[in-house]
Amino acid sequence: MELTPAQLQRYEEDGLLFLPRVFTDAEVDALHTATKELARIDHPSRVLEKDSQTVRALHGCHLTSEVMARLTRLPRLLRPAEQIVGGAAYVYQFKVNFKAAFGGDVWKWHQDYIFWRKGDGMAEPRCVNVMVYLDEVTEFNGPLMCIPRSQRHGMIDVDAARGRGGWQDNVSADLKYSLDRETIARLVEDGGIVAPKGPRGSVLIFHPNLAHGSTPNLSPWDRTMLIVTYNSVANVPRPPGEPRPEFLVSRDARPLTALAGEALVA
Ligand code: SIN
Ligand code: MN
Repeated sequence: MELTPAQLQRYEEDGLLFLPRVFTDAEVDALHTATKELARIDHPSRVLEKDSQTVRALHGCHLTSEVMARLTRLPRLLRPAEQIVGGAAYVYQFKVNFKAAFGGDVWKWHQDYIFWRKGDGMAEPRCVNVMVYLDEVTEFNGPLMCIPRSQRHGMIDVDAARGRGGWQDNVSADLKYSLDRETIARLVEDGGIVAPKGPRGSVLIFHPNLAHGSTPNLSPWDRTMLIVTYNSVANVPRPPGEPRPEFLVSRDARPLTALAGEALVA
């Protein structure tokens, strides 16, 4: 699958592109099963909510799961990512955000790139987030809210919140770099807010400087989403100090080769 010129232009202008039903129910089932198995493993890459029980996120799943590794090389995800970053790409980050029923907590308004620039030394926002919906996303289960066109402002520099000082500050509900109210109000006045909702198997592509966030999930429905961040092989970061763990920032920057077909399971 390649993006059409009209779709690329939409992405360029709005900073996001929603594609309904890119994956079949059977494919989503396979991804969900792998996700649940990984979520049972007690590993530092698994982040819990403040209740210390509910799984908030998993990281680096493509490093250990065959189906997740194949997912990153499917032409229907990799080709659009290559079109957007302008050439060969590799997986910079792979995460699953659970936003569990009754317990999934907030993601404050933020841009992603500031974390990668300040934390990892990424020189340019020459990367893209490709989000796969593993559950139906509705207005009730904490859909991702995005401010169209906010990416045009580039990286908005903000002070780091005081946290515990580890990489966990980047993934907890007390986010390290979040945008303040005045900034959000200004961005929303220009671009409004959209919350792309749709069936499981849908894909949301969004820019690393797009302002986004999500509310807690009060509903009885999970909102599991998987996010692959592809980076250009010409934009490999140079960490300012000790690099973050490999499950958060892939060390393997070799260009991905697309699979010959679209089969998720070999
Ligand atoms: C969310 O899962 O709602 C937030 C995802 C993100 O900030 O990348
Ligand atoms: Mn984000």
